Amino acid sequence: MGEMGEPRTAWERTVIPPRTARLILRQWRPSDLEPFAQLNADPEVMRFFPAPLSREESDALAERIRLRIEEAGVGLFALELRESGEFLGFTGLNPMPEWSPGSGFLEIGWRLRREAWGRGYATEAALECLRFAGEHGVPEVWSLTARLNIPSIAVMRRIGLEYVAALDHPDVDGPLKPHVFYRRGLT
Ligand SMILES: CC(C)(COP(=O)(O)OP(=O)(O)OC[C@H]1O[C@@H](n2cnc3c(N)ncnc32)[C@H](O)[C@@H]1OP(=O)(O)O)[C@@H](O)C(=O)NCCC(=O)NCCS
Repeated sequence: MGEMGEPRTAWERTVIPPRTARLILRQWRPSDLEPFAQLNADPEVMRFFPAPLSREESDALAERIRLRIEEAGVGLFALELRESGEFLGFTGLNPMPEWSPGSGFLEIGWRLRREAWGRGYATEAALECLRFAGEHGVPEVWSLTARLNIPSIAVMRRIGLEYVAALDHPDVDGPLKPHVFYRRGLT
């Protein structure tokens, strides 16, 4: 794996976003911005983050994610329900933060609108991300979240990640500061 933000292998530039039985993982579109802003403004969705996002912050995040996918061919894909075309949130792969264990490897992550919880969508999308990462020679995938984020940790465990470490997030204070790290080897 190479430096943060740089495409590290040819596949990262060329991979075609995958589909699953119920979902499409794809590049972001302008029409995603409105439902993404609603999701990011929902205090329940954002309860394990320091604060909900404003419309401007949400749009800026979507643009950073879109650029990363454009440059690297992989990233936090927009998640669409195949049967309706509805935007559900994101699931995908992103570089691990530099401050953390697993730095230099890819992190798997997810954020879905509340109406889409409890249906196995995050797990289904994440398993597809692991499958194509493994197929393209990615040796291991990591994930991190606040220690209190039980639903996210449950997804990590469902897709076969195992606990590695606990560490305080350097930029977060209060009850959300303690974070946990999980990983899974793919080879
Ligand atoms: C983390 C998050 C994506 C988890 O969503 P989720 O819907 O609980 O996770 P899954 O997609 O794995 O769904 C599993 C649930 O769907 C149920 N389910 C229903 N139909 C299913 C199906 N066909 N297949 C699998 N599971 C199904 C499971 O029983 C399980 O329910 P349970 O939680 O009551 O046990 C969601 O809580 C979220 O978006 N949170 C806010 C953002 C966030 O914190 N992200 C992580 C930050 S690091």
